[in-house]
Amino acid sequence: QYVSWDAAQAEKEGYPHFMLKEIYEQPRAVRDTIRGRLSMTTGQVSLPDLKLSEEELLKIQRVVIASCGTSWHASLVAKFMIERLARLPVEVDYASEFRYRKPILGKTDLGILVSQSGETADTLAAQAEMIAHAMPTLAVCNVIGSAIPRRALGSISTNAGPEIGVASTKAFTAQLAALFLFSVYLAQIRNTLSSEECYRLLSALGELPNQIDAVLRSAAPVCERLAKEFYGAEDSLFLGRGIHYPIALEGALKLKEISYIHAEGYPAGEMKHGPNALIDETLPVVCVATKDPNDPESVLKYEKTLSNIQEVTARNGRVIAVACENDQEISRLVEHVIFIPSTVEALLPILEVVPLQLFAYYIAVERGCDVDQPRNLAKSVTVE
Ligand code: G6P
Repeated sequence: QYVSWDAAQAEKEGYPHFMLKEIYEQPRAVRDTIRGRLSMTTGQVSLPDLKLSEEELLKIQRVVIASCGTSWHASLVAKFMIERLARLPVEVDYASEFRYRKPILGKTDLGILVSQSGETADTLAAQAEMIAHAMPTLAVCNVIGSAIPRRALGSISTNAGPEIGVASTKAFTAQLAALFLFSVYLAQIRNTLSSEECYRLLSALGELPNQIDAVLRSAAPVCERLAKEFYGAEDSLFLGRGIHYPIALEGALKLKEISYIHAEGYPAGEMKHGPNALIDETLPVVCVATKDPNDPESVLKYEKTLSNIQEVTARNGRVIAVACENDQEISRLVEHVIFIPSTVEALLPILEVVPLQLFAYYIAVERGCDVDQPRNLAKSVTVE
């Protein structure tokens, strides 16, 4: 007697899709990315594969990051992390645009390539351009031994494990954790943060995997319910401000790539310069409105975002907010809220993106889409 089995099904470990399995693997992916690189007893970050000494890092005057797709969104978050924590200017480019603007580069620039696969042709070409300008390059990649880390001087691997779903999820949160570690490491070398501040940031990172777990448990049923309400939408907007803006972009990308609903990510404050014209009573507007209550800059940004949300509700737009637990104010303002725990501002993106991944996933399922292999897309793009 034969027992029929399907290898792919077995690898999904009971999940209906790889994407959902990978969303649920994020606490582990982040834990594996920080493991061994963070010591709470000494308050130190160690990145042995960086291959750049402290002296060499102190000579760096600017960071230039090139990447594509979801990795580009992680790079945008990294810009906020590095500039805020280590006070070093950062430029972020789409790898496909990088060479074509004849970038002004030199050996006091550090190049960072962020790539899940480590094989994306445009990102490889951007790396070649950096190397041609005698820049040291650092790879933040998930596939060990792939082309980008092989050509880089140093690397910080993301240890998310194999990612099968075309829409990137766990590789993204692992990239954010790796880039956060790098930002704190740079801040320590450049002496831009007090040791108490570093300790606060690193202990927040240590708590993050459990917080992601909590978000998965609380947000999944909410997202599943919201998907049943919103799956018929034809257009959608995703808004955020500052470090939360790249998460709005990522939420929009997740939704468009797997559900084929037109989705745009926008900086919350730019709405009045165009997108406000789109708002009507059918438009779902997903707003990232979180804050670190201990950080005055974060609170200020949050308050500005709240007034942008009011502009949407005044025009009868249907707001779905991602906000921090205990935020009573937002519940009074908007139709739907997905709550996440609070943490330091630079780590909030890792928690915020999880409900947006789940929202996109359940909407795509509701629409009967091929979640793991969306039409016209490939997991790794090896042509320019
Ligand atoms: C493709 C994938 C995306 C990915 C992008 C960059 O478009 O579908 O999920 O974000 O490539 O890939 P990389 O491997 O360089 O991160």
